[in-house]
Amino acid sequence: MSDFYDRLTPFYHLIHQDWHASVELQGGQLSALIEAEWPGAGKLLDVSCGIGTQAIGLARRGYSVAASDLSAKEVERARREAAAAGVDVAFSVCDMRRAHDHHGAGFDVVLSGDNSLPHLLTDDDILVALRQMLACLSPDGGCLITLRDYEREERGVNLVKPYGVRTENGKRYLLFQVWDFEGEHYDLVFYFIEEDLASGAVQTHAMRSRYYAISTAKMCELMREAGFDDVRRIDGAFYQPVLVGTRPGLA
Ligand SMILES: C[S@@+](CC[C@H](N)C(=O)[O-])C[C@H]1O[C@@H](n2cnc3c(N)ncnc32)[C@H](O)[C@@H]1O
Repeated sequence: MSDFYDRLTPFYHLIHQDWHASVELQGGQLSALIEAEWPGAGKLLDVSCGIGTQAIGLARRGYSVAASDLSAKEVERARREAAAAGVDVAFSVCDMRRAHDHHGAGFDVVLSGDNSLPHLLTDDDILVALRQMLACLSPDGGCLITLRDYEREERGVNLVKPYGVRTENGKRYLLFQVWDFEGEHYDLVFYFIEEDLASGAVQTHAMRSRYYAISTAKMCELMREAGFDDVRRIDGAFYQPVLVGTRPGLA
């Protein structure tokens, strides 16, 4: 799995039409959600930061941010992107199933953005991650998860998901994914077709991964089972559904 993202790292920003604009937009949207749900929160932990899309955007909004990811290459790039953005984020490599063992407790909000939890392929593994996220929080702290809405996705094989065309540094990239479902799971190949506009040379990069097409209702159920209170799905505040839950306060 981390191999998929290690290999994706140099191309990751191309998934977005304009990655820097996404960092700004997502930072604003997520900080508005955090302020509405857990007013006064200041200390955040991102347990699947990738190249820093949410972590950097939130650090730019003044939060103190620790961030980790399973992919060492993505974390390495996230450090460079944060330095270029002039923000300080405490990046490290960590499996979210060991988030508390690695980061300890005392965070106001723990987040996992852009459909990262469905990389864990069983309910048991997701529960392990959610329990670790809960343990990272102070009492009354919040958990914020953003997920693809799998109830709205077609099931089948040979499903093509276009991501569009990007150009940069004299190259054109055509991006698309192909999905093959097998029950509640699907295998995905992410294709980046790279064309050198000067020479016409073309090469294809293809990265493979597997996802659990878990519904948001099931994820909410697992969040409750892990010990979160007031678990809810929020629509319309972000480009994909947001699930929130709160660690119960001290009695
Ligand atoms: C779709 S990317 C999202 C990354 C980032 N949140 C963003 O929006 O740019 C999913 C991320 O989940 C990470 N990931 C997958 N399984 C993980 C695990 N067990 N622990 C920590 N990170 C994991 C991947 O390495 C990848 O960076």
